[in-house]
Amino acid sequence: MVGAAPGGEFGEGLLDGCYALVGGRGAQARARLLCLATAFCDYVEPDDPENFRKAITSKTRAVYGETIANPRMNVLDIAAVAKIAHDAGVPLIVDNTMASPYLCRPIEHGADIVVHSATKFLGGHGTSIGGIIVDSGKFAWTDKYPAITQPSPGYHGIKFSEVFGPLAYIIKVRVEGLRDFGPCISPFNSFLFIQGIETLGMRMDRHLANTLAVAEWLERNPLVTWVKYPSLKSSRARPARPRSGRSGHGLTPRRSPLWSGTSGGCPRTCES
Ligand SMILES: Cc1ncc(COP(=O)(O)O)c(C=O)c1O
Repeated sequence: MVGAAPGGEFGEGLLDGCYALVGGRGAQARARLLCLATAFCDYVEPDDPENFRKAITSKTRAVYGETIANPRMNVLDIAAVAKIAHDAGVPLIVDNTMASPYLCRPIEHGADIVVHSATKFLGGHGTSIGGIIVDSGKFAWTDKYPAITQPSPGYHGIKFSEVFGPLAYIIKVRVEGLRDFGPCISPFNSFLFIQGIETLGMRMDRHLANTLAVAEWLERNPLVTWVKYPSLKSSRARPARPRSGRSGHGLTPRRSPLWSGTSGGCPRTCES
């Protein structure tokens, strides 16, 4: 499963527990934007944390997973995967888009860096495209990460870890990632996101209640052969939730993280 990528400016591989929703190029761009790796390793099936341990090599520079995966809705055992990543001396990055901070706060479970697409539940109204990187400041960057611990040619030769201590990573992302790639959000879009976030809790509660009702209805419907939704009693993901989630729910969906299929044909990607 793992084939660490050749080294580069940031150094090597990122172990990806996310189903390849956007394909290799998107994954590679994501790795570069996070300023940690130049390329992704192949997908690792995230249901069993031990799969990450087996896939880690000397070239792995970070482990990446989703709290609740889009589109397959696997629920990540954040604490177990964080321990495996830390045993290997690499950080765990968690994409918390689908749970949102209302349902899960991955840093409290051991994640080092959390990313969100604010375009979805955080914004809540489809008005803006944006994202967030949250650095716990807890990961001890070593010389495995020369872009953080060695002099930065693009920034007057400073060593980010020396000058900024626990802020090293997020400052690097800001002053180099943001500068080089240019994804600076406008004040107006920031305003729209902040307004959206004010109602996050209320919207999430409604999403959860509505989606559970639809999922249970679909499960009772004889025409439906399978339904995937973490809050269903029948869901395989249920045992993982108390470890990863705060409220005991799975997630839900303006953007349809509820999946179902009929015997006449269903999106194969959801079952395989
Ligand atoms: C879990 C998750 N993270 C990130 C993204 C990317 O989001 P954006 O389109 O805002 O860049 C998506 C897109 O669907 C997603 O589902």
